[in-house]
Amino acid sequence: MGFNNMHIIVTGAGAGIGRAIAHRFAAAGANVIIANRNRENGESVVQEIQEKGGSALYIQTDVSQEQDITNLLQKATEAFGPVHVAISNAGITESASSALDITSQEWDQVYAVNTRGSFLFCRACAQNMMENSVQGAIVTISTLMARDGKGMSGAYASSKAAVIMFTKTLAKSLAPMGIRVNCVSPGIVATDIYSKVETEMMMEKGTFADWLVEESIKSGQLLIPRRGEPEEIASAVAFLASEEASYITAQNLSVDGGLDWCW
Ligand SMILES: NC(=O)c1ccc[n+]([C@@H]2O[C@H](COP(=O)([O-])OP(=O)(O)OC[C@H]3O[C@@H](n4cnc5c(N)ncnc54)[C@H](O)[C@@H]3O)[C@@H](O)[C@H]2O)c1
Repeated sequence: MGFNNMHIIVTGAGAGIGRAIAHRFAAAGANVIIANRNRENGESVVQEIQEKGGSALYIQTDVSQEQDITNLLQKATEAFGPVHVAISNAGITESASSALDITSQEWDQVYAVNTRGSFLFCRACAQNMMENSVQGAIVTISTLMARDGKGMSGAYASSKAAVIMFTKTLAKSLAPMGIRVNCVSPGIVATDIYSKVETEMMMEKGTFADWLVEESIKSGQLLIPRRGEPEEIASAVAFLASEEASYITAQNLSVDGGLDWCW
């Protein structure tokens, strides 16, 4: 799956899954834009990629802000030309796991990043591809919680369910232009995204994902009995973005070890 000299933007690439996706494309020869809200993390991923001989540029971006998305596309295209692949990965969760305890302000924040942010970013990249007659690929990131709720994180789960349906509608709009749009829904991957729930549950930092994996194994709901690694999500994203997936669009690919929560 070569991405030699292709221009690829990854949002939320300063940590976790987005960082692994950025490394994956850079290793395959792409020019990768690290679009992240947190500058320090974003710049350190650029440094990591450059130290390995890859090409990357950090552009500070809050995906929920339309002005930031306009700025991102302008600076990214100045640096690397038309966009070939766009990965909408930035996402956040709420701090209260019960839907009854989420404040309306936090609900709006989660939707602003996960749903509105994904829409703003994908739309801008799609417009750039169309203006430049690029038959590119867009991949969004949802979650298994979008289809298989656990009675927790209602804002997160529902905002990500919206991402799947938006992905499908965008795929239909862009099909005539030869642009493919797909979604990847990860299962349990140990990243900082769980830090809010760890605080709420008074758990040690970095322990929630493994606890959840253990519980899911005990109840027979995780067919591949371990957590997922960011690189395994990146592999699926790279596949869907590549020519290997030239006949695939409007799909949601679960990369979750066969996890099926029915409790
Ligand atoms: N970790 C998991 O188990 C898991 C499971 C399913 C889905 N996901 C999804 O994968 C994606 C990546 O999550 P992660 O686990 O790597 O999380 P993470 O918290 O480790 O990383 C998220 C990154 O996004 C950045 N970010 C947050 N808000 C932003 C904004 N408004 N604009 C730009 N950047 C922003 C953060 O600075 C960080 O670098 C998310 O969309 C998440 O919902 C993760």
